[in-house]
Amino acid sequence: MNFELTEEQLAVRDAARDFAQNVLKPGVIERDEKQIFPAEEIKQLGELGFLGMMVDPKYGGSGMDCVSYVLAMEEISKVDASASVVMSVNNSLVCWGLETFGNEEQKQKYLRPLASGEIIGAFCLSEPEAGSDATSQRTTAIDKGDHYLLNGTKNWITNGSSASVYLVIAQSHLDKGHRGINAFIVERGMEGFTVGAKEQKMGIRGSDTHTLMFQDVKVPKENRIGEDGFGFKFAMKTLAGGRIGIASQALGIASGAMELAVAYSKERQAFGKEISKHQAIAFKLADMATDIEAARLLCLQAAWLKDNGKDYAHASSMAKLFASETAMKHTIEAVQIHGGYGFVKEYHVERLMRDAKITQIYEGTSEVQRIVISRGVLQD
Ligand code: CAA
Repeated sequence: MNFELTEEQLAVRDAARDFAQNVLKPGVIERDEKQIFPAEEIKQLGELGFLGMMVDPKYGGSGMDCVSYVLAMEEISKVDASASVVMSVNNSLVCWGLETFGNEEQKQKYLRPLASGEIIGAFCLSEPEAGSDATSQRTTAIDKGDHYLLNGTKNWITNGSSASVYLVIAQSHLDKGHRGINAFIVERGMEGFTVGAKEQKMGIRGSDTHTLMFQDVKVPKENRIGEDGFGFKFAMKTLAGGRIGIASQALGIASGAMELAVAYSKERQAFGKEISKHQAIAFKLADMATDIEAARLLCLQAAWLKDNGKDYAHASSMAKLFASETAMKHTIEAVQIHGGYGFVKEYHVERLMRDAKITQIYEGTSEVQRIVISRGVLQD
């Protein structure tokens, strides 16, 4: 088993690290405080090829593997999880979904600008009454001949007001359950499509999360992705990859907090020595390092399975479950190590603790991941 990264993968990781430290870090506290979307920074991420990392260059992407994506997501998330969720949704939900299941015309029209970072996209599955229970879609898209008529409301949509293209999941055949669901490409500006108010959030405050309303939106027939009734499978398959992105985000939040805790504990003196020399602190760091390494290996394994054309749904849920629990647990510990300084914004670690929480909730709660994992275990 070869755990060594290639030269190319290391170069991607280093480029993401440089970008995070030099471009994202300077304004991250202010963006978090004022809920400012990192528009200029996202534009630059696109120019560097980080918004369509795994997309074939013939569609404007960077043609990298999923392992590189995990490495880049970790580095960006160490500093700015608001920027990394934009990156994750665009790469693994929107671009991957379109590249894998879209037709050639859809790829030319929508994937190309999304992969090159010219525009960004959003993935619209969650509804007021369909979060974990994603089969219970209330949004309808009824076939009217040359178009579908889309009606309903979507909640908690990342990139809600900054996206130009939205992949919207909706029920087309009320009597067919999840087999009647479709996925559509909806453009910003289509008549009847309204972006609701921005959510005031605890964490990832720089990302723009909105409710979206669709009232008699005419979506052209050619904007349906895949065969009639493919929408739920489209969402599940896409989310399996998305969970690798969010797992890597959680990993980055945890490892970012650990880097801060290590540096602080080597600096801070108490009872006559650096606090890192007290076992009470050193043992916390040992537990952090061990859990973070385990989370990293789970993320990289899921990515490797994906890169090698193997089934990765089970592995991506394991990575997301473990990495998000690790992020929550150890960001709390990192704040504790910082003492009072951990409670103030300038030290960055309180933000990481707030950001960690959402990784246990979006793209499937920890409970949803346990459903997926336990089904896999019981099937084996
Ligand atoms: N690949 C392909 N097909 C799949 C699949 C997968 N990974 N997972 C499920 N399916 C198929 C099943 O085979 C089944 O098809 P058939 O009936 O034809 O056999 C169908 O989908 C229904 O599957 P289940 O019976 O397993 O469905 P369920 O109702 O029991 O739910 C669930 C399963 C895992 C809980 C699912 O509903 C789920 O993942 N929920 C969470 C949704 C979620 O992650 N939402 C996040 C929103 S996006 C977001 O957060 C983005 C962001 O902004 C950051």
